[in-house]
Amino acid sequence: MSKKTVRDIDVKGKKVLVRCDFNVPLDENRNITDNTRIVAALPTIKYLLEQNCSIILCSHLGRPKGEFKPEFSLAPVAKELSRLLGQEVIMAKDVIGEDAKTKAANLKPGEILLLENVRFHREETDNDPEFSKALASMAEVYVNDAFGAAHRAHASTVGVASYLPAVSGFLIEKELKFLGEALDNPVRPFMAILGGAKVSDKIGVIDSLLEKVDTLMIGGGMAYTFFKAQGYSVGNSMCEEDKLDLARKLMQKAKDKGVKLMLPVDTRVGKEFKPDTESKTVAWTEIPDGWEGFDIGEKTIEMFSEELKKAKTVVWNGPLGLFEFDQFAKGTNAIAKVLSELDATTIIGGGDSAAAVRKAGLQDKMTHISTGGGASLEFLEGKKLPGIECLQDK
Ligand code: 3PG
Repeated sequence: MSKKTVRDIDVKGKKVLVRCDFNVPLDENRNITDNTRIVAALPTIKYLLEQNCSIILCSHLGRPKGEFKPEFSLAPVAKELSRLLGQEVIMAKDVIGEDAKTKAANLKPGEILLLENVRFHREETDNDPEFSKALASMAEVYVNDAFGAAHRAHASTVGVASYLPAVSGFLIEKELKFLGEALDNPVRPFMAILGGAKVSDKIGVIDSLLEKVDTLMIGGGMAYTFFKAQGYSVGNSMCEEDKLDLARKLMQKAKDKGVKLMLPVDTRVGKEFKPDTESKTVAWTEIPDGWEGFDIGEKTIEMFSEELKKAKTVVWNGPLGLFEFDQFAKGTNAIAKVLSELDATTIIGGGDSAAAVRKAGLQDKMTHISTGGGASLEFLEGKKLPGIECLQDK
């Protein structure tokens, strides 16, 4: 990696501000339902503890839109982090207010303080310099380890780096190693699987991956736009009418580049958008009126699986069907299982595909599951991530 990490500077005994992505899912009782992002922050925190640092952690949680809202408090994260580390994590009542400032000033080496949700201030998302300065004034070094928020140019991810020596933590280093190596230097055949609802969300990724992969498989809701683009009816399936031309262009680009573009050959359709709706499998060219496509069909699963068995590097982003409903999770689960058994580097872009892999209990069988949703997507698009760009070069 071309950016400095905590290993590259002297942090011994210093007060260090660490930006994490503790944007974790909570249930209605504010219990954390998936602590992956907290666990992923531990290596950096433990290293800083070994270096006898006083650690000030900060993060966003959800989108409280610049106001204090108790349901967006990071208190459940402090509790979970204390449990994981086996030591108290002190919770500040505010972000840059009196409580945070006093607690930060009194923090001793080996102690950990968690500031409240940075998005309780509108200045965070505005990347306000005064707010950045106030955050920076609490510490001597800034460490960004929030890969999931690295595509956001906010005060705590970018602004603060103007006022303190700024380096990356181990999570960002790891994410860049796996995602970066897959894109820049993949062992071939290199294949990508893209799913998710909309073509419009993935245009940049498809376009950029067509420059790099040997095979591109497309499933999920966006496949129907490609069906329609070839002149077939898609019933009530999700379809972006204004992207038909674009879908045709992407198909042409695949041809020009010699990339094998694989679209589903059959699809599982349902009558209604509900878990127990009547469903059946039909050929991609024969989606009946009044039915809606919710998953790839058995023949597609077989076709994708056979192709994947030849892969040496696979990147997967986006579920292949409506995996939240069991009867339409078969395609996503089957592909997750195939990936888990491959003798290949398997990289799961974050967000829904990561959730699907975890739901199937296959997380330990993948080479790398990214903690970034939007961030990993932008990285795959070849975009520069501002939260990484702002860090010191090696
Ligand atoms: C995520 O969950 O993708 C990150 O935490 C970023 O959250 P945001 O989309 O609200 O900026």
